[in-house]
Amino acid sequence: MIKVLFVCLGNICRSPLAEAIFNKKIEEAGIHHQFKSDSAGTSDFHIGELPDERTIKCAGKHNLTINHRGRQVNRTDLRDFHYIIAMDDSNLRILNNLKERFGFQTKQIYLMRDFAEGSEGQSVPDPYYGGEEGFEEIYTILDESIEGFLGKVIQTHQIYV
Ligand code: 4NP
Repeated sequence: MIKVLFVCLGNICRSPLAEAIFNKKIEEAGIHHQFKSDSAGTSDFHIGELPDERTIKCAGKHNLTINHRGRQVNRTDLRDFHYIIAMDDSNLRILNNLKERFGFQTKQIYLMRDFAEGSEGQSVPDPYYGGEEGFEEIYTILDESIEGFLGKVIQTHQIYV
């Protein structure tokens, strides 16, 4: 079982959407039994909450199922997930600090857009204080990045699609 964790700040916008897009792709490819996915936030701002209404609306538009409650990333996550993917620089820095603190120095944390050719090093912009159009923008960014990520994972683990 390959365990994938998507991480943003609040765990109500970017990372639950990323998780839903990933789940749909692996389901469509018929390889979902080989994965466990989840999402989490670096902050404790929205623990227990449903995703943002705009996230749910955007997901519905793209036929994605979202079934998630906000939670904060913890030590067990850093120990157990094979791929921990940060949405932006700030999430990445916090996760890299946490892995040092929790004793998982060798764990590699990934940046979402590093999987999208031509957008390496860039962040998935935080849509929280913007309008609904920001959610369409992150949907497009996430879709492309996750496509790239899945391609890498399929190749690395020699998954038969
Ligand atoms: P997310 O967006 O990190 O993509 O879930 C945000 C959600 C909430 C806040 C910031 C960003 N907030 O400040 O409450």
